Amino acid sequence: MNPNLTLLHPYPFEKLTQLKNGITPPADKSPITLSIGEPAHETPQFIKDVLVENLGSISNYPTTKGIPKLRETIATWLENRFACKVNFETQVLPVNGTREALFSFAQCVIDSSKNPLVVMPNPFYQIYEGAALLAGAQPYFLNATVEHNYLPDFASVPVEVWQRCQLLYICSPANPSGTVMTEADFETVLKLAEKYDFVIASDECYSELYDDEANPPAGLLQVAYKMGNHDFKRCVVFHSLSKRSNCAGLRSGFVAGDAEILKNYFAYRTYHGCAMSLPTQYASIAAWQDEAHVLENRRLYREKFAAFVEILKDVCDIQKPPASFYIWLKTPISDTDFTRELFAQENVTVLAGSFLSREFKGVNPAANHVRIALVASLAECIEAANRIKRFIQTL
Ligand SMILES: Cc1ncc(COP(=O)(O)O)c(C=O)c1O
Repeated sequence: MNPNLTLLHPYPFEKLTQLKNGITPPADKSPITLSIGEPAHETPQFIKDVLVENLGSISNYPTTKGIPKLRETIATWLENRFACKVNFETQVLPVNGTREALFSFAQCVIDSSKNPLVVMPNPFYQIYEGAALLAGAQPYFLNATVEHNYLPDFASVPVEVWQRCQLLYICSPANPSGTVMTEADFETVLKLAEKYDFVIASDECYSELYDDEANPPAGLLQVAYKMGNHDFKRCVVFHSLSKRSNCAGLRSGFVAGDAEILKNYFAYRTYHGCAMSLPTQYASIAAWQDEAHVLENRRLYREKFAAFVEILKDVCDIQKPPASFYIWLKTPISDTDFTRELFAQENVTVLAGSFLSREFKGVNPAANHVRIALVASLAECIEAANRIKRFIQTL
């Protein structure tokens, strides 16, 4: 067995199951689950229709590179959204959801013979850590504390860390806090990557779920392009249809950026054997070509955030995040006690923040926080907010 397997941590939801183990919540209260980041809005009918219309194409092997029309559509979407020119032949690859791509990317780019570090935010999407460990690298965490607006403080990282860094994961809009890196933040990491010669993997899978229609979150390619890095050197972005288009089960996303890196990643993926099926590719084309359903998706989240915050604002310090579908709530008691007792008393499940993070340099930046995913219906979110309010009032 690969010895690095023993380094993997249990997934946050395993820890949550253990935390709830043995508790019987009140039977008169319906269960409300706000722990998992799985969108529950309806998948647009036109996406399902295109998928079904193209089912006949499952008789063919798809190619790892994907059909040109899909890559062309993605390049056009990137150009419209992030004001940058992307070559669909060399700078775009389809992936089966960003999860597998964020994982396999590290296996491709890390040279384990050089004592590598993979730098990542803390708390984080746990795939980054597992990807680093299985690639033979050591994770180095950037504590995203409340004092730093829940964003990594890149300036505080010692030079020796950047010298050993081969890959930096960033996540904006961030899971779990929903905070957004500014253009200046992206500039900072781009300059560091150039100076110390490492690759940036920018996880932007929440980029389309934002509050202010006039201010969509910036992206890595956008800022690189603006700075004159037209080849996107050292930059790869990860985008997904899961949250944007409410089709997490379609398993569709893409990577885009540095052609030299993607040439190698393409070779890796050929052997990895993870080509996207043709019906999925056709459905993805339809999804990337339409913005009306994404606008409606944002409206639904906006409605839920407004109602949720209104109910809870008098009993806790709650903020609507600029993006994502998460509330990152500070808890008056430990996050694990809060999660367990809320379930025990109100049958509402949220995720304890410390399950999404590591203690690093003596600090666990996610302790005393819970992640609340506003994925349920408006009525359920309102009911959950009222139950959470009642629970907080008992503390
Ligand atoms: C930060 C982050 N990145 C990536 C993913 C993976 O999404 P998918 O594989 O559906 O594209 C998720 C899913 O929850 C996520 O929260």
